Amino acid sequence: MKKTTWLGLIAGAATGAKIAFFWSRYQRRTIERIPSLEGLDDPAVARAYGRIMTMPQMALLRRYVAQRAVAMKSAGAAADIGCGPGDLVIGLARLAPGLHVTGVDLSEEMLSQGKERAAWAGVRGRVKFRQGAAGQIPVADASLDLVVSTLSLHHWGDPVAALSEISRVLRPGAAFLIFDLRRDLAFPLWSLIYFATHVVVPRALRHIGEPLGSRNAAYTPAEAASLASASKLTGWRVTAGPLWLTIEGTTDDH
Ligand SMILES: C[S@@+](CC[C@H](N)C(=O)[O-])C[C@H]1O[C@@H](n2cnc3c(N)ncnc32)[C@H](O)[C@@H]1O
Repeated sequence: MKKTTWLGLIAGAATGAKIAFFWSRYQRRTIERIPSLEGLDDPAVARAYGRIMTMPQMALLRRYVAQRAVAMKSAGAAADIGCGPGDLVIGLARLAPGLHVTGVDLSEEMLSQGKERAAWAGVRGRVKFRQGAAGQIPVADASLDLVVSTLSLHHWGDPVAALSEISRVLRPGAAFLIFDLRRDLAFPLWSLIYFATHVVVPRALRHIGEPLGSRNAAYTPAEAASLASASKLTGWRVTAGPLWLTIEGTTDDH
């Protein structure tokens, strides 16, 4: 055989082995859920996360969620659970001036970024930020017209209790939209997340294996439906896109 044929065979075998390696990682992680940390409190991680949230694709995603939420409820009291650096809180306040939005997060680091960004966006007087957990939302029973949450569900230590807590704070007829990654996403999308984790994101996030860790901790649509049905939440349905899932709906009007 010619030297070039040998080289071609070696390159082909190396590529095949690489694809097989990635494929097995992808498959294993789809089956097995690996929980992630609650509360992103490390200042370097919180700042790095805040930076990637300003990327245009993240802004688009946020706009999509904000529009869907506002189509469900455009006035009254709202909360964003696990609000992170506050971009959705600000987006909702801009899109629907009739909404009074409170961002709730475990992490003080994230909340202080939220306050700064809201001031910079000129909506600081119309939004609040409060420290709290998804399982212990710092508002009274039946006091909210809308609860939203993005990319946080997979962090919640007890998601069934948190969904029940969301049901406690919602008024009858109120809306909720809990948006998160899905773990069972297709191989090409998984490859993009793998690439982002190892090449694109700032070092502090790469160091903790994000965003792949979030994908590994996320639920499948079927798992999300089991969580919702085990909780006290009523009027829910699960929807799924190629990369994400939602638990959304309107609570029973009794
Ligand atoms: C990946 S970030 C998402 C932030 C923001 N919602 C967004 O879409 O950019 C997850 C956020 O959820 C918060 N978090 C994690 N577990 C939580 C819990 N049990 N209760 C409240 N917030 C939580 C973290 O501190 C972090 O700010």
